[in-house]
Amino acid sequence: MSRIVIVSNRTPGREPAAGGLAVALRKVLDEREGFWFGWSGKLSEDPAREARFENIDGLDIAQIDLTRDDYHAYYSGFSNSILWPSFHLRLDLANIESHWYEGYRRVNQQFAKALMAVLRPDDVVWVHDYHLIPLATELRNLGARNRIGFYLHIPFPTTDALYAIPHHGELMHDLSRYDLIGMQAQRDVAAFTEFAEHQAPSTFGAHTQPVDFSRTEIEVFPIGSEPDAFARMSTSPAATKMVKRMERVLGNQRLVLGVDRLDYSKGLPQRVEAYEKLLANNARLRRGVHFLQVAPPSRDTIKQYQETSDALDAMCGRVMGRFAEPDWQPLTYVKRAYGQPSLAGLYRLSRAALVTPLRDGMNLVAHEFVGAQNPDDPGVLVLSRFAGAAEIFPDALLVNPFDTDETAEALRMALDMPLNERRQRWTALMEAARHHNVNDWALRFLDRLAPGATATSSSR
Ligand code: G6P
Repeated sequence: MSRIVIVSNRTPGREPAAGGLAVALRKVLDEREGFWFGWSGKLSEDPAREARFENIDGLDIAQIDLTRDDYHAYYSGFSNSILWPSFHLRLDLANIESHWYEGYRRVNQQFAKALMAVLRPDDVVWVHDYHLIPLATELRNLGARNRIGFYLHIPFPTTDALYAIPHHGELMHDLSRYDLIGMQAQRDVAAFTEFAEHQAPSTFGAHTQPVDFSRTEIEVFPIGSEPDAFARMSTSPAATKMVKRMERVLGNQRLVLGVDRLDYSKGLPQRVEAYEKLLANNARLRRGVHFLQVAPPSRDTIKQYQETSDALDAMCGRVMGRFAEPDWQPLTYVKRAYGQPSLAGLYRLSRAALVTPLRDGMNLVAHEFVGAQNPDDPGVLVLSRFAGAAEIFPDALLVNPFDTDETAEALRMALDMPLNERRQRWTALMEAARHHNVNDWALRFLDRLAPGATATSSSR
């Protein structure tokens, strides 16, 4: 059987991961021969060109270092100040410095060179996320004829937002060099198809002709979690310790929970405003409810992220000032990452989760929350209709996160929901979470990518 080579910007480390990517892919390499390739997280003035192999917790990992300037242009610049906001339809927050593209391209070339030196002809290569769109082109330029797949963890943008990205024509051409592209949701494949069918050829740059996607298969592969593992974890000793700590503080108050990287795509200020409206409109709920927002800092060298953090501080302060009493606080807000067992305990303890991103590829918090519920007394998932997860979980309370009145009302419904309805909804959600578990997701993608795999269906 051919080896699997997973490539992503970040490789799994010893730290608890804030994003879902590392958790999802570890399992694949536990079961198949291969290795994980990516950036080491280290900066060096004169990085070695060859990858360093290391075994971390039983996983073979090959890494390269980057220079400070390349890292800045590739990661903070093109990837996270242009691609991330544009793909999330936040052109107002994009910082269009087109020269960052050179650094982005250069780092993809460095990845390709270091990977090519250790790649065997029959290895299957699976590339992850927006940092590495050009990687197939760069590998093919060096002679790679391997099967190469790409998975986009974030949403695919509308055509107009795509046109706002410098060098978008080259990036789309890069996508056409993959054998298989996987996306999170139908919405993303529809946006891609819209572009592919109606593209206006770019007038600048190397590619002035419409991009030919006829050799690339595009399909929806919604990522998931391991809901049964979360169920087990939610009653583990570490989870129970967290639950006990919280129960002491909560007393009779019901817990409302949010867990997100501190990112403007997550709709955090809007969420706090919705909670404020819940308290303003339902005086009976005050003192009986407590909102805990866990928000580990993310990409905090980028100005837009610092501003999101400030906006959240201001909103939380406003709600505290308006509703707190000497012996009651309406919310707690922690800017810190917690390990999965502690989170699983918090998920299980909460009566409702607010998963209300303004736009999100999938959102694995929604999946993990469902997995961790107590079947006898499950909590309610309030979920943004703009998360990919909304396609998987129609039995959640789906909300428009921009409309804070609607979110407040959904949260009120969640808190007032009778036990039998909570059980019915959760049973359907759990079935969907199991059906879309992460192990099947990875196997399905790899089956389709395997040499000689024939396309049985194509969403194009
Ligand atoms: C999202 C992206 C991942 C990324 C993660 C954490 O989930 O899809 O590719 O790794 O955020 O962001 P960071 O910038 O810290 O890697």
